[in-house]
Formats: sequence, C-alpha cells, structure tokens
Amino acid sequence: MQELSSLQAKNAQEAEALRIKYLSKKGEISQLMNDFRSVPADLKKELGMRINELKNFAQEKINTLKESVGETTAAGSSSIDLTRTPYPIALGSRHPITIVKNEIVDIFSRLGFTLAEGPEVEDDWHVYSSLNFADDHPARDMQDTFFVESHPDIILRSHTSSVQSRVMEKTQPPIRILCPGRVYRNEAVSARAHCFFHQIEGLYVDKNVSFTDLKQVLLLFAQELFGPDTKIRLRPSYFPFTEPSAEMDVSCTICGGKGCSMCKGSGWLEILGCGMVDPAVLEANGIDSSIYTGYAFGMGIERITNLKYQVKDLRMFSENDVRFLDEFVSAK
Ligand code: PHE
Repeated sequence: MQELSSLQAKNAQEAEALRIKYLSKKGEISQLMNDFRSVPADLKKELGMRINELKNFAQEKINTLKESVGETTAAGSSSIDLTRTPYPIALGSRHPITIVKNEIVDIFSRLGFTLAEGPEVEDDWHVYSSLNFADDHPARDMQDTFFVESHPDIILRSHTSSVQSRVMEKTQPPIRILCPGRVYRNEAVSARAHCFFHQIEGLYVDKNVSFTDLKQVLLLFAQELFGPDTKIRLRPSYFPFTEPSAEMDVSCTICGGKGCSMCKGSGWLEILGCGMVDPAVLEANGIDSSIYTGYAFGMGIERITNLKYQVKDLRMFSENDVRFLDEFVSAK
C-alpha cells in the first residue's frame, strides 16, 4: 500500500503505464489473485479481503493520477477542442394528453377539487345503474360498451362518471372531486373516433350547491384554459344522471367567435357536458337528496388537446410516434 500511495505520474502515458503494471490482467495485483489458489482454505477469506482492498486502493490511486494529469494537459493540449459545439442532449417530452390533463387538474385543484380514481374494468352498477340509466338505455348496447364475454355484468367503463358513484357510495358530502381516466367505447378506429380515449370528470356535492355555482366554475375554467377573453355558452341537453343537463361551448379558440373552419362558421366549440346531479343518483349512492344537491361535468381530454394543439387525427395520440411526441418537448 505504501508503495502504491507514493506513486507519481507526470503525464497520461505514465499513469497508463502504472495501470498496466498493477491492474492489467498480467499486472502485479492480478498476479496475487493467481497465487490465491495455493493458499490454505482457512486463510482464503482473510487474504481475499486484503487483495480486494489493495486492488480498490490501486484503482482509486491510479484514477486520481489519471484525472490530475488529464486536467493539467487538457487546457494546453491541441488534441482537445474546447470550442467545439457539444452533441445536443435529446430531451424527452410529456405526452400531450398528460400535459393537458395536468393543466386541467391544476386549474380545478386551485378551486379545492381533489383527485379520485376508479377501475377501468367496472361493473354495470357503477357505470350505468347507479347513474340512473334505464335498463334499456342505448348506451348499454353492444354498439357502445365493451362487455366481458363470460360476465355480461363486467364491462370496460364507457365514461369516468363511474368514479362519481364509487366516491359517493363511500363518502358523505361535502364531496369535491376530479376524476381523470381512460374510457372505452366500441367504435371503429378512425381519425375522428377511437375505441379508447380519456375523460376528466368533476363532481361537487354539498348543501346549497346550485347551477349558478356550476356556471361560474366552468367560466373560470374556460378562461384559465383558453385565455381571459373566452366566452362560454350553455345549451340544454340530456344525460341520465343530471337534471337539468347542459352542453358547454367556448368561443372559438382560433377565430375568437367570428366564424372559421375550425368552428364551422358558428364561432363556438363544444367542450363538455354538465348538469345538476339527479336526486335519484344521490339516493342510489346513499346521499340524502333532501339535504344535499350537487353538480357534475365531464369532458374528453383528446378533444381539448385537439383544440389547443390542432391535432387532426385522434390515432396520433396512441401511436407513440416519436416525431409527433417530440413536438411537445417545449410544452410544460
Ligand atoms: N359522462 C358524460 C359523457 O361521457 C359526460 C358528463 C359528465 C355529463 C358529467 C354530465 C355530467 O358524455
């Protein structure tokens, strides 16, 4: 060890020569390893440890020598060009769906919404029956829902509203949740439809929750997401689990409402469904509808992402084409 600690090297060649002398296959330390076989068994453990120690020590010492000679020669050496442009470091990107989901979650969490999740493989009760879908409602049809062949009661959820039901059956109000997740529908895959996509659902149940609260929260959301000049419009609609129900449009994110090809001349873009939770849904999930009221809303994340980034083909989101994903490197 003493011999090793006093080693010196003036340049890289000398340091390399030392490495060869001690650490190469035929070097002095490796030689010790070879002799190891002839050592009596009871000494092997002790000796093995010693040799390893020595080897590590030599390795460290020689590394330090190499570093120090490397440093002193690098600055003056003509073989290293310090002005050369470095190789670019390829940065990864978040998936556009994740970027937009995070943005939506961020806006609502500032309003006190917390995250809730539920299973993608669900049962009929949570996806349909507990949400006031009649037994013969067309959404239950094979056209729409994926069933597990041997268990017609087990399905792939076709909307994230199932998470509302899962939370309400376990929690008493106040409930203020946001449920992002993947949903499945039995549709032929094309540029405009896919058999799976992502939704984000909001639910607020408490005393005295009114439609006015819903409208104000959605206005704030739209302005945070698309800019402070964004206007919203609510059109009457129908969902089995909300009454009254509405669909919400935002003023076109491209033309600002004047009319363009994006909004097909109307100036408005539909982005979500919403309404006051139907009292029958509260009751089915164990919440007293004479005390509590609530609102719910749900939107497709792909749809919002298309509006923000003008992605023309829905299939792009699930193909993992790096050229497409790379376009989002600079996004948050
Ligand atoms: N679940 C509805 C859908 O998939 C959206 C929705 C959610 C509507 C909550 C109203 C309230 O289209």
